[in-house]
Amino acid sequence: MKLYSLYLKYVSHLRSNPAIFRWLYGFTPPQTLWGQYWDWTTVTLRNCLRRYLKPEMTLLDMGCGPYAVLSRFAKEKLHCNAITGADHCHELIEYAKETDPDSGIEYVHSDLFENIGGKFDLIIFNAPYIESEKGTLRGLFPTELDRKRFCGGKDGAATVVRFLRDAPKYLELEGKLLLGVNHYHISREVTQSVIFKSGFKTVAMHDNPLTRSCVYVLKERKWRDVTSV
Ligand SMILES: C[S@@+](CC[C@H](N)C(=O)[O-])C[C@H]1O[C@@H](n2cnc3c(N)ncnc32)[C@H](O)[C@@H]1O
Repeated sequence: MKLYSLYLKYVSHLRSNPAIFRWLYGFTPPQTLWGQYWDWTTVTLRNCLRRYLKPEMTLLDMGCGPYAVLSRFAKEKLHCNAITGADHCHELIEYAKETDPDSGIEYVHSDLFENIGGKFDLIIFNAPYIESEKGTLRGLFPTELDRKRFCGGKDGAATVVRFLRDAPKYLELEGKLLLGVNHYHISREVTQSVIFKSGFKTVAMHDNPLTRSCVYVLKERKWRDVTSV
């Protein structure tokens, strides 16, 4: 655990550095008022956006956080013009709005899809996936707000289950979900079992063995997929 605390200390310097941020995401971030800018899953999702997002698509960045890193990267670097960023923490979405008044990104306070209208070609979610007991032991939830932002319940998958249950109504035909997790904090077995039990199938996986972050590319299972399993 000592080694992990040391790792966190150093990595959080890296993740709070505006120059590294600019190099990774191509725009100047606001002040780090709400803690570090990004995590390893953010980086893997950024790489996936380069691959899966086209400028003419509509994008929903679920859990965009206070810096709306992925929404703003999609706008600035990938020239996507129809972006919605959503977060269930009021103070975080207000900060995202305040610090990005002119981009045209729509920021919505929403518990998952509660206040979301319309359908999207791509929905991305760097989900809260930290198992509650492990996260508490590792000191990852020093405040109730941190718990609300990052805790995924007992097995890490509580929010992911709800997300997968509700997402189909908000996806265009042939639309995709990019679900980001980190398998240091949530087990592979739990994640894959939750996906298996949902209405989605994994069509690709982008796994970083070094950082253990992993993005599952999901498409809705059609009726004939269901009968063939
Ligand atoms: C791991 S952080 C990701 C932040 C940012 N998207 C990134 O990639 O760096 C998870 C984010 O999801 C938000 N979140 C957690 N549960 C949510 C829910 N039920 N509805 C909407 N947002 C949620 C948290 O507040 C937090 O900002």
